[in-house]
Amino acid sequence: MRVLVVGSGAREHALCLALARDTAVDDLICAPGNPGTEAIARSAVLDVRDPDGLAGLAAELGADLVVIGPELPLVAGAADAVRAAGIACFGPSAAAARLEGSKAFAKGVMSAAGVPTAAARLCETPESAAAALAEFGRPYVVKADGLAAGKGVVVTDDRDAALAHAAECGRVVIEQFLDGPEVSMFCVTDGTAIVPLLPAQDFKRLQDGDCGPNTGGMGAYCPLPWLPAGFVDDAVARIARPTITELSRRGIPFVGLLYVGLALTSDGPKVVEFNARFGDPETQVVLALLETPLAGLLQAAATRRLAYHPALRWRSGAAVTVVLAADGYPASPRSGADVGGGDLPGVLHAGTRRRADGRLVSAGGRVLSATATGADLAAARSAAYDVVDRISFAGMQFRRDIALAASGALASRA
Ligand code: GLY
Repeated sequence: MRVLVVGSGAREHALCLALARDTAVDDLICAPGNPGTEAIARSAVLDVRDPDGLAGLAAELGADLVVIGPELPLVAGAADAVRAAGIACFGPSAAAARLEGSKAFAKGVMSAAGVPTAAARLCETPESAAAALAEFGRPYVVKADGLAAGKGVVVTDDRDAALAHAAECGRVVIEQFLDGPEVSMFCVTDGTAIVPLLPAQDFKRLQDGDCGPNTGGMGAYCPLPWLPAGFVDDAVARIARPTITELSRRGIPFVGLLYVGLALTSDGPKVVEFNARFGDPETQVVLALLETPLAGLLQAAATRRLAYHPALRWRSGAAVTVVLAADGYPASPRSGADVGGGDLPGVLHAGTRRRADGRLVSAGGRVLSATATGADLAAARSAAYDVVDRISFAGMQFRRDIALAASGALASRA
């Protein structure tokens, strides 16, 4: 099988690693790819914002399956263009990807489907934003309605900062703050059948102890030993299933990866956000534990035969990933630092670039992700931080507490 992966981040690097382990895959291409994916997949030039360019590339390569990583091409209609070219595609149509592309659309789907989520108001004026902030109180949660490259969500006690974010975005969803630990649940779906993957947790704040600004994610671990028994079945029944059914009822079947971001509140699990793609950095840990061949699973979804796919198999043990971010991230990351340790096993590339002279330099906010597995979370953590300790670049930022609470050291805080 010839598989084309679209994207250039650590998520796509993790997808490529898992696809390369599938013996059914005899040709793997990542477009545009990065210096990490280049070691395991062919690269191809692609502007991910160009759906027709992607469809043309997939046809030219003779791809049997296209796997679209990031949200931007999905919302722009990349999956529609690939399917129109007669090629199987893992990724939702532009219409279904609005679950991520518009917070207001997602809230409407949840409301129609009876899915538990935070109460929210769509605000398009400073007056309506001020009223919604007063209604829900602190901490204020202000979300840009559209895609915002990981910068759309502000959670703050500072009313002025909340109002400023609303004014900057123009159209926002302001919602009630959901208390409780967060869980990321990935559901592979063909629009009818749903196959949940192992739940994971990511760490959104920049600094240890959940301090500092929100980021795209500073680390993740899997599995979550503190989840109640039956959590996954319950979340599929109460959240994923009604959402997928509601989309199908609207004539927009969701084929791809439904990312359900949940908060475990005292009233039960509630949706914090939906995404229309694999999450980053959770993918790095979830796929590290997946034993089932990935291409077969994604192809079964893409060809709407997921109901016939065998049950998933998982490695025992745990996986941890620690993100290494650039100096100045997330506000204004500085690029161009020499990166040492980029070729180590377990290192996934995101914001890196290979210069003409062969040197690896930083070229983005989240630069690398150090991923390791182990017999349990403590062992996986220790192995991941061993990798971190061998990576270096000027101004490198990372958290020291990824999976610390869950690994038992601070079990009461998990
Ligand atoms: N980990 C959060 C995201 O992928 O959006």
